[in-house]
Amino acid sequence: MNQPEIMERTDINDMIAIAIDGPSGAGKSTLAKRLARELGYIYVDTGAMYRTIGLYALRNGADLSSERQVSALLPHIHMQLKFLDGEQHMYLNGEDVSLLIRTEAVSMAASAVSAHPPVRAFLLDTQRDMAKNDNVLMDGRDIGTVVLPDAPIKIFLTASAETRARRRYEELIEKGQEVSYEAVLDDINRRDYNDSHRDAAPLKQAEDAVRIDTSGMELEDSFQLLLRTIREKLG
Ligand code: DC
Repeated sequence: MNQPEIMERTDINDMIAIAIDGPSGAGKSTLAKRLARELGYIYVDTGAMYRTIGLYALRNGADLSSERQVSALLPHIHMQLKFLDGEQHMYLNGEDVSLLIRTEAVSMAASAVSAHPPVRAFLLDTQRDMAKNDNVLMDGRDIGTVVLPDAPIKIFLTASAETRARRRYEELIEKGQEVSYEAVLDDINRRDYNDSHRDAAPLKQAEDAVRIDTSGMELEDSFQLLLRTIREKLG
């Protein structure tokens, strides 16, 4: 099977990994991207990898709830991650799909396909290899519990469903997408349910993770709190 490929990485040992997990829309990617830049780490957005598979499954008309149908697509997926100016770009069979994977339809598809164990297995080694080769700040749902259980720094970033829906709604409107707040809240609730009730690597806080709830917090305050927390742990 074609494992996803990582481009332009350096090979050094003794890397430090920071795992940031949490539900959709907790501000993980915005905060993680900024934190990684500040700390000089590579930001790895694992959700983008599930989104890329979700997009491929949608394009191929697969029944997203069918493990058999979705698994049958995996050998046809050649996924590449390229880091261009510190930004992660996703390539699907040679096409840059970095923007295409950001729609609500792909969000739901990613959530659906991520429940299938063969999909998770397809991505696991790549995610682990990335942490072997660089200092990474990796965000997802199961980074602290499954992908990098030995990560020295684990954060579980969360916020109320309403706060997350409001933020996501504003982000989508800003991008020019036509959505209603109610529809976004509904999607968030459905994705939370899917992501935390699946059998394979469900979303849950690792026992040794620091829990940070950003409900009612401004982005800048969340950023400063996370940076302080990570710096204290790094010692
Ligand atoms: O972080 P995100 O919203 O881009 O993730 C999209 C979907 O991918 C999310 O609903 C669940 C899944 N996902 C996962 O199962 N495990 C991860 N480590 C990251 C994302």
